[in-house]
Amino acid sequence: AGTMQPPSASPCRGGVSWQGILLAVSLLTFWNPHPTAQLTIEPVPFDAAVETDVLLLVHNASQNTIGYYWFKGNTTEDSREIISYSILTQKINTGPAFSGRETLYTNGSLLFMNVTKEDTGFYTLRTLNNELSEGGRGRTGRQKLPKPNITINNSQPMEGEDSLALTCEPEISYATYLWKINSQTITDGDRLKLSNNNRTLTLFSVTRNDTGPYECETQNPVSASRRDPLTLNISYGPDAPIINPPDSHIRPGTNLNLSCHADSNPPAQFSWSFNGRPLESTQELSIPNLSTNNSGSYVCVAHNSVTNLHRTTTKNISISGKWTREHSIKCWVEP
Ligand SMILES: *[C@@H]1O[C@H](CO)[C@@H](O)[C@H](O)[C@H]1NC(C)=O
Ligand SMILES: *[C@@H]1O[C@H](CO)[C@@H](O)[C@H](O)[C@H]1NC(C)=O
Ligand SMILES: *[C@@H]1O[C@H](CO)[C@@H](O)[C@H](O)[C@H]1NC(C)=O
Ligand SMILES: *[C@@H]1O[C@H](CO)[C@@H](O)[C@H](O)[C@H]1NC(C)=O
Ligand SMILES: *[C@@H]1O[C@H](CO)[C@@H](O)[C@H](O)[C@H]1NC(C)=O
Ligand SMILES: *[C@@H]1O[C@H](CO)[C@@H](O)[C@H](O)[C@H]1NC(C)=O
Ligand SMILES: *[C@@H]1O[C@H](CO)[C@@H](O)[C@H](O)[C@H]1NC(C)=O
Ligand SMILES: *[C@@H]1O[C@H](CO)[C@@H](O)[C@H](O)[C@H]1NC(C)=O
Ligand SMILES: *[C@@H]1O[C@H](CO)[C@@H](O)[C@H](O)[C@H]1NC(C)=O
Ligand SMILES: *[C@@H]1O[C@H](CO)[C@@H](O)[C@H](O)[C@H]1NC(C)=O
Ligand SMILES: *[C@@H]1O[C@H](CO)[C@@H](O)[C@H](O)[C@H]1NC(C)=O
Ligand SMILES: *[C@@H]1O[C@H](CO)[C@@H](O)[C@H](O)[C@H]1NC(C)=O
Repeated sequence: AGTMQPPSASPCRGGVSWQGILLAVSLLTFWNPHPTAQLTIEPVPFDAAVETDVLLLVHNASQNTIGYYWFKGNTTEDSREIISYSILTQKINTGPAFSGRETLYTNGSLLFMNVTKEDTGFYTLRTLNNELSEGGRGRTGRQKLPKPNITINNSQPMEGEDSLALTCEPEISYATYLWKINSQTITDGDRLKLSNNNRTLTLFSVTRNDTGPYECETQNPVSASRRDPLTLNISYGPDAPIINPPDSHIRPGTNLNLSCHADSNPPAQFSWSFNGRPLESTQELSIPNLSTNNSGSYVCVAHNSVTNLHRTTTKNISISGKWTREHSIKCWVEP
């Protein structure tokens, strides 16, 4: 256990009579009695004035730390707990000694806001280490990594418009992160970038081809963990519609059945018009018993309600030809 020296007497500031907070912080390292680097706590500023903020910076915490527990006083009694953070569950819990002015950061550092004279005293940080650490005496089974979750900073990305940050949760200092797209390991590219610790994947200007699925895996020396892959729902399109069948010369008296298709997410809504007059709002257009006055331009409009884009395709159809009298011939076959 290491201790900080109390600050020496300090001057007056701004006419306010104040007293430095005695921030003697004692440390208990749990399960890891022989850390390679010594954990230290540095109060910033070293001597705080009343009604200012003090940050208790935690340096050199073990890579195997999985929890930070702060107590008021030289004690680790539950009743004196201020606040704690579990890296595994990513949960911050407040204890009986929480005053509402403390903020715990995920790196263990504790921010004290608007300190009062009564805050003067000892503060104790207890760290909980993963039992894999050197010299650890385990109580429970092996420390398994939690199943990671992927969070996206935009749940409705649009093609060509949005860049996305995919983050693998939770942040675990001793784990490594591995990303896969379509089961292939990702490496940095023109349009994607991994953060320094590989925890965040940034996709620049997404396209429909970036749909995925994406997987994030956390690994430590004894285990690996992952969850079901995530597929992105990237809105795009519609592309220019295609009208089928492609024929443009049709005989009178037959039926005209035209269908319109356009690649789009979510699926496009379709509508038709003929020579500038709106027809029905369906994907298929059906006109029975064609006559020459059905010749003209048929326009299919595809609309995507999310991207709010419209695309149209025009097809000119001519109904021509005239039925002639039917000719039949009777053939006799001699026995
Ligand atoms: C962290 O530990 C290293 C190695 O023990 C030491 O050299 C360094 O000064 C420490 N840093 C702090 C801020 O305590
Ligand atoms: C811990 O996090 C806080 C808030 O993000 C930051 O101000 C501080 O510098 C961090 N401490 C260390 C030792 O990195
Ligand atoms: C904290 O308390 C323990 C015994 O409970 C004592 O050995 C230690 O010296 C105390 N630390 C400080 C800084 O007073
Ligand atoms: C700081 O605390 C004092 C009482 O101790 C209160 O009067 C003041 O409004 C607080 N300031 C802020 C910024 O919360
Ligand atoms: C991951 O997501 C699941 C389901 O959405 C949720 O129950 C779980 O708490 C999340 N875990 C973390 C570490 O965010
Ligand atoms: C998501 O993150 C990317 C990359 O950092 C950024 O360009 C984009 O603006 C972010 N989107 C939102 C909605 O915050
Ligand atoms: C990040 O991932 C790449 C491969 O995707 C790997 O080569 C690299 O070593 C990883 N970096 C870290 C810090 O895990
Ligand atoms: C998607 O990939 C296909 C096939 O590689 C390519 O033809 C197409 O242009 C890509 N689309 C976009 C929007 O990048
Ligand atoms: C994709 O997102 C759109 C809205 O942005 C929504 O209408 C659609 O249902 C989503 N599709 C899936 C498969 O979640
Ligand atoms: C055209 O559509 C009509 C009505 O929907 C249908 O009865 C007919 O079989 C269709 N003809 C062809 C060639 O698809
Ligand atoms: C088709 O239209 C022609 C006139 O354009 C009419 O003589 C004929 O009876 C119609 N056939 C049917 C099946 O409606
Ligand atoms: C075409 O002419 C027929 C009568 O020959 C008529 O019933 C029909 O409404 C006309 N269609 C159009 C599109 O003008």
